[in-house]
Amino acid sequence: MTAPIESVLQEQRLFAPPPHFAQTAHIKSMAEYQELYARAQADPAKFWEELASQELHWFDRWHTTLDWQPPQVQWFAGGKINISYNCLDRHLSTWRRNKAALIWEGEPGDSRTYTYAQLHREVCLFANVLKQLGVKKGDVVGIYMPMLPEAVIAMLACARIGAPHSVVFGGFSGEALRERLNDGRAKVVVTADGGWRKDAIVPLKEQVDAALPQVPTVENVLVVQRTGQRIPMEPGRDHWWHDLKQSVSADCPPEPMDAEDILFILYTSGSTGKPKGVVHTTGGYNLYTHITTKWVFDLQDTDVYWCTADVGWITGHSYIVYGPLSNGATTLIYEGAPRPSNPGCMWQIIEKYGVNIFYTAPTAIRSFIKQGEHLPKSYDLSSLRLLGTVGEPINPEAWMWYYRIIGQERCPIVDTWWQTETGGIMISALPGAIPTKPGSATLPFPGIIADVVDLEGNPVGENEGGYLVIKHPWPSMMRTVYNDPDRFRRSYWEHIPPKEGQYFYFAGDGARRDKDGYFWVMGRVDDVINVAGHRLGTMEIESALVSHPAVAEAAVVGRPDEIKGEEICAFVILEGFQTGSEELAQELKQHVAKEIGAIARPAEIRFTDALPKTRSGKIMRRLLRSLAAKQEITSDTSTLEDRSVLDRLREGI
Ligand code: WTA
Repeated sequence: MTAPIESVLQEQRLFAPPPHFAQTAHIKSMAEYQELYARAQADPAKFWEELASQELHWFDRWHTTLDWQPPQVQWFAGGKINISYNCLDRHLSTWRRNKAALIWEGEPGDSRTYTYAQLHREVCLFANVLKQLGVKKGDVVGIYMPMLPEAVIAMLACARIGAPHSVVFGGFSGEALRERLNDGRAKVVVTADGGWRKDAIVPLKEQVDAALPQVPTVENVLVVQRTGQRIPMEPGRDHWWHDLKQSVSADCPPEPMDAEDILFILYTSGSTGKPKGVVHTTGGYNLYTHITTKWVFDLQDTDVYWCTADVGWITGHSYIVYGPLSNGATTLIYEGAPRPSNPGCMWQIIEKYGVNIFYTAPTAIRSFIKQGEHLPKSYDLSSLRLLGTVGEPINPEAWMWYYRIIGQERCPIVDTWWQTETGGIMISALPGAIPTKPGSATLPFPGIIADVVDLEGNPVGENEGGYLVIKHPWPSMMRTVYNDPDRFRRSYWEHIPPKEGQYFYFAGDGARRDKDGYFWVMGRVDDVINVAGHRLGTMEIESALVSHPAVAEAAVVGRPDEIKGEEICAFVILEGFQTGSEELAQELKQHVAKEIGAIARPAEIRFTDALPKTRSGKIMRRLLRSLAAKQEITSDTSTLEDRSVLDRLREGI
């Protein structure tokens, strides 16, 4: 993106917060938001310091609120804290002791509810089992789980004993798991015999067994029994959770962690190279996820809150587990997904539990639209009072459908912009205060200094496209790329070089601001593909393709797809003089699914004999993107080495 992004979307509709909603909201008016925002902007450290004292329990107070040595940041250095204490223990001495903390609905229709007291007990048992398996403070634990209560319990147990967790999305393959476990040098893996999804068993343990021979650091595997199908258990290495839990005590005091000790690593795709291990630490992350959950979702003690993300993504970490539980909320998780045998399962769950707050992704909303209005209309959704979205820009028509059909024109919608790297929601409406516009994430959270700038860091004009940047550190920002501080600097801090002491955090999105200062995020400017709300690096998919013996070279791009946001189109050059066939295309799709996971399966494989490259050998993906989307190439082709390549590629269409 060297030229400014063109903006084509001009949305005029405005939805004010409903008065009855504003009345009881944590933040009740635009004036109140503006006052908070101005106060935070004037002295961010003081703003966060006050909230940290009010909202969290600290074993010892910090000595330095903010230590900013760009791009290295420390928040609350010297402070002692434990996020599992803030999520569990502190509620036990209040009336919340017997409040539902976690409601779980299994796909076959079974369910479990844990009160705060019960969840605390399970977490303590789990933590003691991990200790028995040799896990110590600082040891990385891999978590590769279906959406079970034990996934949440395992995360909190790790946090309790100071073992950073590295959750790997259960939809990823054994290959992807192996790479992530090795990068993190994980000592133990927590998994399950399987999980239910779309009426079938996802065989997680099988993937673990395939990965582990090439992961020398893993000594033990803790297996949760879910499906009960027979699985091989390797003696000495594999242990059943339900067996080991019998032999440990339920007393496990929380480890006092330094605010800057690592809480977790979570891998995310970058535009080049292997996935990045995004590192989040304890104190700032606890504070920021806590306060954003409270204000953005306007969480009230009587709410049943449901975020449909998987715990394997950052949304699951921040807004299923840590943010809601730190607030003493009731958080709901669902094992499965809509499927032919139960297409209305989402609405059925809302009806069954009286869900009040529903947070999902635009890709899910688009598939609900495809299913038709009759489904949600045949369930009682009157308990809903707030809706949210995350993961990609939401098109105004999908927003309106969500507002009319699911929210029944009663519920405000919070469109929340943020990233794995930011740890928490950065730009979003506060539903009792900020009027919404379909398709806009609206305004930054208090304390977040966001802007849209050009490559020199100068703010662009009203409605002009540019780079979305953050200009002041915030408590839950990523601290580094695991074991690769240099990559952290290069990936996020050098794209727009610092100027007069001002640093610009940039993680790849284009945006514009309208006359009211509202942000309109326009999507990624780099080579990452956003399939169904999940960011996938082109590089990883290309590597997977090239690992097939028939493939010499591959380039992968995204092209717009109505349901998934983007789908994957792969351009492939074969080894030798082979010609492509439908059969081989199928085989390659299957190969990618095996290497990375079904989510990365290309929608289309196009065989070619050359790729458009610059003289320095960089593949010009923007040209391939136009070809994949069957668009005219209007952008600059002057750096193209061999112009005839484009003609040949076009002929292949
Ligand atoms: C995109 C997910 C527009 C964006 C929490 C970002 C969005 C990437 C929105 C991060 C939104 C997320 N509007 N785009 N409300 N939310 N994105 O790391 O491109 O999986 O950079 O974190 O998703 O994806 P990630």
